[in-house]
This record gives sequence, structure tokens and C-alpha cells, in this order.
Amino acid sequence: MVNVAVLGAAGGIGQPLSLLVKLSKDVSSLRLYDIVRCPGVAADISHINTNSQVQAFEGNAQLKDCLTGADIVVIPAGVPRKPGMTRDDLFGVNAGIVRDLVQAIAENCPKAFVCIISNPVNSTVPIAAEVLKKNGVYDPRRLFGVSTLDLVRASRFVRDLRPSFDAGTEIPVIGGHSGNTIVPIISSVQNAVHFSEEEIKTLTHRIQFGGDEVVQAKNGEGSATLSMAYAGYTFVNSIIRAMNGTPTTVCSYIDVSVDQSGFEHYKNLCADQVEYFSVPVSIGPNGVEKILPLENLTEFEKDLIKTASSAIAQNIASGVNFARK
Ligand code: NAI
Repeated sequence: MVNVAVLGAAGGIGQPLSLLVKLSKDVSSLRLYDIVRCPGVAADISHINTNSQVQAFEGNAQLKDCLTGADIVVIPAGVPRKPGMTRDDLFGVNAGIVRDLVQAIAENCPKAFVCIISNPVNSTVPIAAEVLKKNGVYDPRRLFGVSTLDLVRASRFVRDLRPSFDAGTEIPVIGGHSGNTIVPIISSVQNAVHFSEEEIKTLTHRIQFGGDEVVQAKNGEGSATLSMAYAGYTFVNSIIRAMNGTPTTVCSYIDVSVDQSGFEHYKNLCADQVEYFSVPVSIGPNGVEKILPLENLTEFEKDLIKTASSAIAQNIASGVNFARK
């Protein structure tokens, strides 16, 4: 049984994500934190008849109590995109939010698994790492950037083109979590779907910029929240399974120093040096265990990795510089 804290729980992602976590039989305590609207959301969710106990924490003064004893902390706090914005445009606001929340994690639950949803993930994860390092509590095996929505979209968008494809089939997506840093490995299902080169190009672009479809359709009301809540819940469930001793694999944006030799396979394909990258990993009770290889990448995918790595290197530098200031 685990204790899960959601920071930013009253938001567009936070509410449905908290609802889904409430359904989990493996959660004993669900702590919902936000700077506004939290008691109402928590009271509502708390009436659902599963065994976990729901508590509301609102405002900075209650953050310590929210985090004390938390095993998993999920962070969807911060502002989302509006039409015409890139994820990097959110840096100015969200970098500070993530820095301050992770400082509180370092002080109150330094051993928790930390799952960062707040964008730009390519930069907010390095910020989190720097804060944990500054506090002397950094364990790179326990820090995750949640890029699961890219995998969810990849499988669903393939199904849109090939109705016989099972949308539940996992397609690895590596690199980062924004635009052309998102690298879907469609070759992993090519034997089943037989896409032409043109189809692969179009599909890759749709997966990379799928978030824009939602931003445009919501027309100023934010970005993906419901599909993200589903993706976040899937990710949290994988972490819970791993914590409970079931070997589990996920794709996540992590500090690749956890398994230097495992990352060698990808490093050789990168144009720039990257300390963080989304890769398939096996996770166990203590977090990331191994970076797993992806075999038989196509030349097209290798080129995508090259392009992605240059942008990610810059995103990492922005995050690190901000946190060290
Ligand atoms: P939202 O604006 O609906 O909700 C954000 C919540 O964070 C609000 O309730 C707000 O009060 C709260 N918040 C703000 N500052 C806070 C602080 N210091 N402490 C605690 N809570 C705070 O936004 P939405 O749509 O839920 O998106 C949240 C974040 O998730 C955005 O940064 C967005 O870009 C990102 N996102 C990430 C995705 C991913 O795949 N990783 C996908 C979609 C969105």
C-alpha cells in the first residue's frame, strides 16, 4: 500500500488524475495539494467508495503535511499552453513552481518517487534534479519526467490508420517531450502495420505535434487534461507495480547517468551530449534499474534522435542554469 501526493490537484489534469488514482486498490492515502480549490475537489473525490483516505492541503503552509510520508509525488502544477505557444514558453512560470515544490519534497519526503508532468518537461526534470542535488538527497533512479502521453498518442494514432491494430499495443517513444524532441519508434510495429515511408513521416509529425490538436480544439482553454490524466495514472500504476516487486518497464525522461553503459546505445546516435533523455527503462522497488536498448532503428529514426538531442541539450542547459542561479 502506498501514499500518493498530487501537487496541482485542483487543475485540469490534477482533478481527473486524482480521480483515477482514487480508484487504485494499492493506494492507502491520497493527498491532494493546490494553492486554490483543493478542499472542494478532495471532498468530492473522498466520497468514492474505495479504501484510500483522501486529504486536502491548500497553500504553502500545508505543503509539509501533505508530503510527509508520501511514497510517490506527482506534479501537474503550473500553467498550460494556449494556442500558438510552445512548451518552452511555459518555462518562465513553471520553472519556479517546480523548483519550489521539489524543494519541499527534498525537505519532507526525500525518498519519494517524483513524477513530473509540468512542462516543459525537458527542462523541469533537470531543475528538479538540481534542487535535489543541492539538498544532498538526489537519487536519479527516483526522478521521472512523465512522457507517457506521447506513447498513448502513438498507439492511438497508429490505430487511426490501421483499424486492425490493437490500440493497447505499446510503441516506444524516446527523446524528449516537446515537438521535434519526441521520437516515436514506429519501426517497432512495422511488421504488423506495413506503413509506407510517407505514412511514417506524416504519422511521426502527428505524434510529435499531437498536443497542438488539443490546444487548438480547446481554443484558449488549455492543453490536454483528460488524456494526460489517463497517461499519468498509467505511469503511476507502473511505479506502484514496480514498488510492489513486479518488474515493470516504462518509457520516461530520466537522468541517463543511472545506467551509463545502457545509454551508450542511444548516446552514439545523439548529435549533442545529453544528460537527460526519454528511454525505455526497467524499474524495480528502488526505481530505475536499467536502460533498455531498442534494436533495428531505421535511418529515419536515427536522424530524429540526432535532431532531438540538440534541442534537448539546450532545454537541459536552460533548466540547469535556472536552478543554479
Ligand atoms: P491547469 O492550469 O488546469 O492546472 C494547474 C494547477 O496547478 C492549478 O490548479 C493551479 O492552481 C495549480 N498550481 C499553480 N501553481 C501551483 C503551486 N505553486 N503549487 C501547487 N499547485 C499550483 O493546468 P493543466 O492543464 O492541469 O496543466 C498542468 C501542467 O501540465 C502544465 O504545465 C501543462 O503544460 C502540463 N502538461 C504536461 C503534459 C505531459 O505530457 N507531461 C501534457 C499536458 C499538460
